Amino acid sequence: MKKIGILFGMERSFPHAFVDRVNEKQSDFQAEFVSIDRVEQGVATDYAVIIDRISQDVPFYKAFLKNAALTGTAVVNNPFWWSADEKFFNNALAVHLGVPVPKTILLPSKERPDDTRHESFSNLQHMNWDSIFNRIGFPAFMKPHSGGGWKSVYKVDNPDEMFKAYDETGQLVMLYQEAIDFTDYFRCYCIGGKDVLIMPYEPRNPHHLRYATEMKTTGDAGKKLMATMKDYVLKLNHGLGYDFNTVEFAVRDGVPIAIDFCNPAPDADVNSVGQSNFEWVVEAAANMAIERAKQVQKGKDNLTWGTFVRGSIAGSGLIQPQAEKKSPPAPVAMGEPVKELKPKKAEKNSKVEAKSDKVAKEDKPKKKK
Ligand SMILES: Nc1ncnc2c1ncn2[C@@H]1O[C@H](COP(=O)(O)OP(=O)(O)O)[C@@H](O)[C@H]1O
Ligand SMILES: [Mg+2]
Repeated sequence: MKKIGILFGMERSFPHAFVDRVNEKQSDFQAEFVSIDRVEQGVATDYAVIIDRISQDVPFYKAFLKNAALTGTAVVNNPFWWSADEKFFNNALAVHLGVPVPKTILLPSKERPDDTRHESFSNLQHMNWDSIFNRIGFPAFMKPHSGGGWKSVYKVDNPDEMFKAYDETGQLVMLYQEAIDFTDYFRCYCIGGKDVLIMPYEPRNPHHLRYATEMKTTGDAGKKLMATMKDYVLKLNHGLGYDFNTVEFAVRDGVPIAIDFCNPAPDADVNSVGQSNFEWVVEAAANMAIERAKQVQKGKDNLTWGTFVRGSIAGSGLIQPQAEKKSPPAPVAMGEPVKELKPKKAEKNSKVEAKSDKVAKEDKPKKKK
């Protein structure tokens, strides 16, 4: 197992740059695009490490990766955990880890899943909408509990708008969530459970200008905010066990609130993240892959597992809520300073622009509602 592979779909800039960067470093490991022409149960691949950027859209790849993991490949991200994870669990875990998240309620899909009937829902009552609206308030966001790429994300201002949006969501299980009115917004890469890049992000800008913004919080408050976000990014990724992920924060009253942190194939395209963020992610990913390849032990499970799963296996039970820890400001990589742009007003009561924010769903045609 002397190879490092990358498995990908339509994206181009990151896979090429990743392979070139690993190979430039002249370690004992050669990087290449993963090549598959036969998959047999229990038979190992040639890869010490596989970076997976696409299996969420290709079930065949997910099964291939689980088999590879069983036979010793360090698959990034862990295909078992990734299959099990979704945004509602992420939020619930964040609550236990002491990371602030928006108040969130889980909604059953508006339409019944295929092959179910009215009688299949013996346990489900009508949702208590009054109590849900009272708890969450308005405006609110409604978005799929699993998925990404800004698909089927709605901002609603009242119950009528909410029900109208809900009617469009078909078989999707939805999160119904307090909207955070933010003064700053960030997207943070986390690689290898240690390298963190905090990028100012303006979600109200058009897709190609979302990274063309800068942090508004300044001085000591800014330093404290950066340190807190780094702490939260690491807590979340250690809890979940992701080697390669992004965390989004909306900052309200100086508090970073985690919005989206289930992005195991985060957008890393040079045209959206910009040259300097791209350079950071290519370098960090190449270093992480080589480090992981060196650590691979033959015939062992070389996956990363989060503290939630490890705690369960060790018998220590559910992770207890942690008291807010005061950590000193830590050095954090910061995105390229970029010119300030006036944020555009968010469109109200509308589907938020459905441009792909991650590689996650790129190969998948939008589901028919
Ligand atoms: N609770 C919220 N408060 C404020 N903005 C939100 C909230 N939830 C989502 N958004 C906005 O909608 C965008 C898409 O939602 P997100 O949870 O990131 O879904 P996706 O996984 O599809 O990217 C976010 O980048 C953010 O701008
Ligand atoms: Mg997002």
